Amino acid sequence: MPNTIIVGASSGIGRSLARELAGEYDLGLAARRTDRLTAVGEDVGGAHVARIDVTADDARERFDDLVDSMGGVDLVVVSSGVGRHNPGLEWADERDTVDVNARGFTAIATAAVERFERSGGGHLVGISSVAAEIGSPTMPAYSASKAYVSRYLEGLRYRSDDDVVVTDVRPGYVDTPMSPETDRFWECSPETAARGIVRAIAKEKEVAYVPRRWWLVSKLLAVLPDRYRANLG
Ligand SMILES: NC(=O)c1ccc[n+]([C@@H]2O[C@H](COP(=O)([O-])OP(=O)(O)OC[C@H]3O[C@@H](n4cnc5c(N)ncnc54)[C@H](OP(=O)(O)O)[C@@H]3O)[C@@H](O)[C@H]2O)c1
Repeated sequence: MPNTIIVGASSGIGRSLARELAGEYDLGLAARRTDRLTAVGEDVGGAHVARIDVTADDARERFDDLVDSMGGVDLVVVSSGVGRHNPGLEWADERDTVDVNARGFTAIATAAVERFERSGGGHLVGISSVAAEIGSPTMPAYSASKAYVSRYLEGLRYRSDDDVVVTDVRPGYVDTPMSPETDRFWECSPETAARGIVRAIAKEKEVAYVPRRWWLVSKLLAVLPDRYRANLG
């Protein structure tokens, strides 16, 4: 069975994805809350569990240790992320968002690509967001960090040969602890999001909107005049 590591598997989309992929892959689950990871592992019939804080200096080393303990890795999904409503631009929140979503993402993405290039190939999936496509007045670090994730993944795709597949997943609103309550109408469940991600993985998509209706939203966003965009982000 191929090996998959999901970083950010203790909650939300990452946890649902672990449940979707169980049985098809040997799973490695990473995040900071190991009690939750252990519970997810038990739920899916067994998994390797590792405590990784993607912002810590040893994040890449711990990722490598997890890969070694699994005997290699074929698919890496980086689902770790924070997104805080922050209209007052509190520095601690903006800083954490950049640290986890941009720096932490890069730590794991580079470690994964290094592994794939050494072992002859693999598939990297980054969970970006539709928020990457529009500056948010209330969560500016979040939308900017997701634009970073999408551009970084594009860069990795351009530098990689066919053996390294790179998928940029852009969910809309998903009902997880991260999602603000006011967006319920637009939300899908984390299970629906996870099934969309599984389809994108199977098709080796370059960019995937989850659920697919967000592709249309993204096209509309691209042509919307600024005075309307300013009220949406
Ligand atoms: N929910 C949405 O509406 C939505 C929409 C578009 C995109 N997304 C993206 O989807 C991804 C998953 O979010 P979610 O909605 O599933 O939120 P969530 O339920 O809050 O899950 C976030 C995950 O990130 C992990 N994480 C946070 N900080 C970390 C750190 N420093 N090191 C390692 N792991 C860390 C958390 O684990 P620990 O706290 O245990 O470390 C948790 O497993 C994020 O990248 C998010 O930006 C979400």
